[in-house]
Amino acid sequence: MREQTIRFLGVIAIAISVGGLAVPLGIASAQSSADQDMETALKLASLLRSARTVIAASQDLINDPAGGDKGLNGDHVLRLASETFLAANGTAPLFEGQDAREARLLSAQITAIREVMETNQATINQDGVGFKGFVPAVFGRLVNERFSELVGDEAVIKVTAPPELIRNRKARPDDWETEIIRSNLAAADWPNGQVFAAEAEHDARAAYRVLVPEYYGEGCLACHGEPQGEIDVTGYPKEGGKLGDLGGVISISLFR
Ligand code: HEC
Repeated sequence: MREQTIRFLGVIAIAISVGGLAVPLGIASAQSSADQDMETALKLASLLRSARTVIAASQDLINDPAGGDKGLNGDHVLRLASETFLAANGTAPLFEGQDAREARLLSAQITAIREVMETNQATINQDGVGFKGFVPAVFGRLVNERFSELVGDEAVIKVTAPPELIRNRKARPDDWETEIIRSNLAAADWPNGQVFAAEAEHDARAAYRVLVPEYYGEGCLACHGEPQGEIDVTGYPKEGGKLGDLGGVISISLFR
C-alpha cells in the first residue's frame, strides 16, 4: 500500500510538470487548486477502475446460465471496489474533511455504480443465457453515462482509445484527445503509465483535462488481441493488440 501511495504522488508530480503548471507539491501545506484537480481526477479514474475490476472478477458468475439472485448488486460491487480503492489510494473514496467538490463527484460516481448494478439485475440474473454482454467496458460506459447525467455540469468521465481501436462510437476521442493520445500517450518514448494533464476546452467549455493511459493485460487479449479481425465473444472483431500495448485512455474533464 505504501508503495502504491508513493506512486500515486509520483504520478501527480509528473503529470503536473507535463501539464505545464508550475505547482510545487507542498506536503503539509494546503493544496493548490491544480493539485486538488489532479487528485480528484485520479480518484475518479481509480474508483472506475476498481469497480470494473470487480465486474471482471465476477465475469464467470455473470456468464453463468443458471439464473436466480447472484448477489452481484450495487452494495456488493461498491464494497469490493472500495477495498481496492483504499489499497491503491490510502483512503476510502469518501472521507471526513475531503475537498467538497471531490466528495460530490465521488458520491455521484458511487450512485452511478449502484444504479447501473440495480438496473442490470434482470440481465445478470437471467435464466438460461450464458454470455449476456455485461462486460467491464459496457459497465464502465454505463457508469460514466449516468455520472454525466448526475454531475455533467461539473465533470465528465469517458473511456476512450486511440481512434483505430474504437469499438463503440460513443467512445470516440474528441479532437483534443485524439491529438494528445497521438503525440503523447501513444508515443514510443512516453513513460509507461504516465498521465497527461492540461487546461483545455471540452465542448467549448474551459476545463482541467486529465488522460490516464490503460494497457492491455492478458485478460484483455481474448477480445482485443490476435488474430486481428477474428470475431470475439462480444461480436466485435479483435484489434490485434499485444500485451502491454496502449489499449485505452480514461479521460476526465473537470469544468471551470
Ligand atoms: C469479453 C471481451 C472483452 C474483454 C476481455 C475486454 N474488452 Fe474492452 N471492450 C469490449 C467491448 C464489447 C467493448 C465495447 C463496449 C461498449 O459497448 O461500450 C470494449 C471497449 C473497450 C474500450 C472503450 C473504447 C471502445 O472501443 O469502445 C477500451 C478502452 C477497452 N475496451 C479496453 C480493454 C482493456 C484494457 C481490457 C483488459 C483490461 C479489455 N478491454 C477487456 C470487450 C472486451
